[in-house]
Amino acid sequence: MPDLNDNIDQVGRGFADFLAPPPEGVIRFTVGQPDFVTPEKIRRRAIQEIEDGNTFYTRSAGDPSLCKALTSWLEEKFKINVDWEDVVITPGCKQALFYAFLGLGNPDDEVLLLAPAWPSYASMIAHLSMKPIHVPVRKEDFHPDMDALEDAVSKNTKFIVINSPNNPTGAVYTADEIAALVDFANRHDLWIIDDMIYATMAWGGSSYTSPTIFSGGAERTLTIGGWSKAWAMTGWRIGFISGPSKAMKAIHLCQSSIASHAPTFLMPAAETALEDEESRLEMQNSFAKRRDFIQQELQTIPGITTWKPEGAFYIMIDISGTGMDSVTFANRALAEAQVQLIPCSLMPHGEGMCRISYATNIGNIKEGCLRLRTWLTSLQKV
Ligand SMILES: Cc1ncc(COP(=O)(O)O)c(C=O)c1O
Repeated sequence: MPDLNDNIDQVGRGFADFLAPPPEGVIRFTVGQPDFVTPEKIRRRAIQEIEDGNTFYTRSAGDPSLCKALTSWLEEKFKINVDWEDVVITPGCKQALFYAFLGLGNPDDEVLLLAPAWPSYASMIAHLSMKPIHVPVRKEDFHPDMDALEDAVSKNTKFIVINSPNNPTGAVYTADEIAALVDFANRHDLWIIDDMIYATMAWGGSSYTSPTIFSGGAERTLTIGGWSKAWAMTGWRIGFISGPSKAMKAIHLCQSSIASHAPTFLMPAAETALEDEESRLEMQNSFAKRRDFIQQELQTIPGITTWKPEGAFYIMIDISGTGMDSVTFANRALAEAQVQLIPCSLMPHGEGMCRISYATNIGNIKEGCLRLRTWLTSLQKV
């Protein structure tokens, strides 16, 4: 049999082993997707488009009407100024991220990741024979440590990835921190990959800040996001990327050679989503309430400590007080408490912690926390 690609063994599986559907009755705190069905108006629009026969090949960068609506939305919400012709609508945010590395990187380029980082970045980077450099964030609040970044940058560094609100930590970087990251990228001449898929999900006074609003930022930032999280559209596979024209020409070429375009009939539905503020806000408010609720619940569980998440729908727990490593903790929580969570040692600089997704209803959150409390209390008595 012929050989496989030499890189394949270097590509990590991310959270896959802990995302497997658990036995019935287990509370799943693992899945990073809203528990809502996509709002009705959006579903109806997609169905209508199919019925109207909008099923042919189309413009590779995406429906002009959607690209224009998206640029207005980015400008209105986040002051991101981008020409609609510098937007590519992609089959998911993940694919947009991959295009950024594919279109702008070369083998052996180094990519700075603020760690613990969502593991898919490192997998994509490995596919392309580039190198992820995991730079630890500050332990107390998961915000960027600029000294650590200065220590990690090298002549081979080509990119820095910013993901705020963050998966897995729930941190939202302040405007001053984003300004410092842009200054850092300017000084070291780096591309900024701004994965802002959780941009509308910032809680308690935190807010997403775009690197493009700071001097030098727009020229080097790829703004990448999608519809999966804010509009509960994970299965649709629709996302976007925008940035400076020169970079976008390369990224557009990636899309034309690999996917041609995002599904034709989904794009008008994505435009409907941008208009459907009511549904989006309803889900957003629900996540904000769940975040307060789970944080209060977790605080009272013996053996673990937690942080107040500032955004996205994840909360980190420090499990080192239990004496278990995070994989043991996650395996035992599943077996003994019927609660599934993600051990953060799957990510560099994540040992000692587990990630909980609170993208599930209050009833499940209550029950999952009760089970963890009962289990950990019983261990303390042994
Ligand atoms: C940080 C981050 N970026 C991107 C994605 C993927 O988004 P999409 O479903 O649009 O590909 C996820 C999904 O979990 C994520 O957490």
